[in-house]
Amino acid sequence: MNGIFRVAHLSDPHLSSLVGVKIGDLLNKRALGYLSWRFRRRHEHASEVLAALRHDLSELILDHIVITGDLTQIGLPGEFQQVRQWLETLGSPTDVTVIPGNHDAYVRASWEDTFALWTPYMASDQGLQTGEQQAPGRTPFPSVRIRGHAALIGVSSAHQSAPFFATGNLGAAQMNRLGDILDLTRRQGLFRILLIHHPPIVEMVGWRKRLTDGATLRALLARHGVEMILHGHAHRSSVTYLPELQGNIPMIGVASASARGIKPKQRAGYHIYEVRPSSDGWEVRTSERGYSLRNRCFVARDQRVIRVPGSVTDSLCTSVHPDSHPAQHGQRA
Ligand SMILES: [Fe+2]
Repeated sequence: MNGIFRVAHLSDPHLSSLVGVKIGDLLNKRALGYLSWRFRRRHEHASEVLAALRHDLSELILDHIVITGDLTQIGLPGEFQQVRQWLETLGSPTDVTVIPGNHDAYVRASWEDTFALWTPYMASDQGLQTGEQQAPGRTPFPSVRIRGHAALIGVSSAHQSAPFFATGNLGAAQMNRLGDILDLTRRQGLFRILLIHHPPIVEMVGWRKRLTDGATLRALLARHGVEMILHGHAHRSSVTYLPELQGNIPMIGVASASARGIKPKQRAGYHIYEVRPSSDGWEVRTSERGYSLRNRCFVARDQRVIRVPGSVTDSLCTSVHPDSHPAQHGQRA
């Protein structure tokens, strides 16, 4: 059957360096974050792993790449610039979608000096955003991007939390708009993929790192529906099914994209999802690729097929949305 949408899912690369950061930038919670990077995080998140990841991606044919947050260490403006340069090596804003994580909003900072640099990679498609969402200095979330038969719906759970906490929160305004967007994209017969940094169940990350309004989000998803949830934050690969959601709705977490693996279960990995319409809904083929310390490259780990219920219109079985822009990657040998 035609109409396969192939997307890679990366998360938590923590790719920026704090070498040369000024002491004046390390007031408040950032001092703790700097110490965490200095003594632990910089030994775990490695540029050579990210280089291997980029090489692996370059050998794939992909329709899109999504990154579910925590691209920085402590959210300094200089880190946002480093990430912007890295994003440009990964693909164009049309082909790469980014949502932020808690490390990207470590303390309150000027939008213009930070997230504005990533806006092309976070913004909704033309015509899908509301005026309120795009107002200067306002977070452009939820974001909506239509690619192939998929709707990529991004939310931001990134907000400042107290020292030693890494909680997330969506808030009522974002939650209300999310319900409307889920309804609209369901009427269009699209495969709705929710992108969120924090998983909405506390058991996956613990109370100190939880999404504080996770129960509200789960209830909203039960009312409005969704076909797949992608998250980061836990630094582990996982597939979970939320009891509130009817049917086989997968919630998939992915490892950090850059981790050497001081804890082997948290060694770097990323996922590829192939989504295609089927006679009774959707079929999602997932492939996990993980970093091999011995070979210094990414290798195949796990594969599975998930059948997601839903009603697919006939046109989706034979056509691909004109807004689909395949990323420029070669064929795997
Ligand atoms: Fe996180």
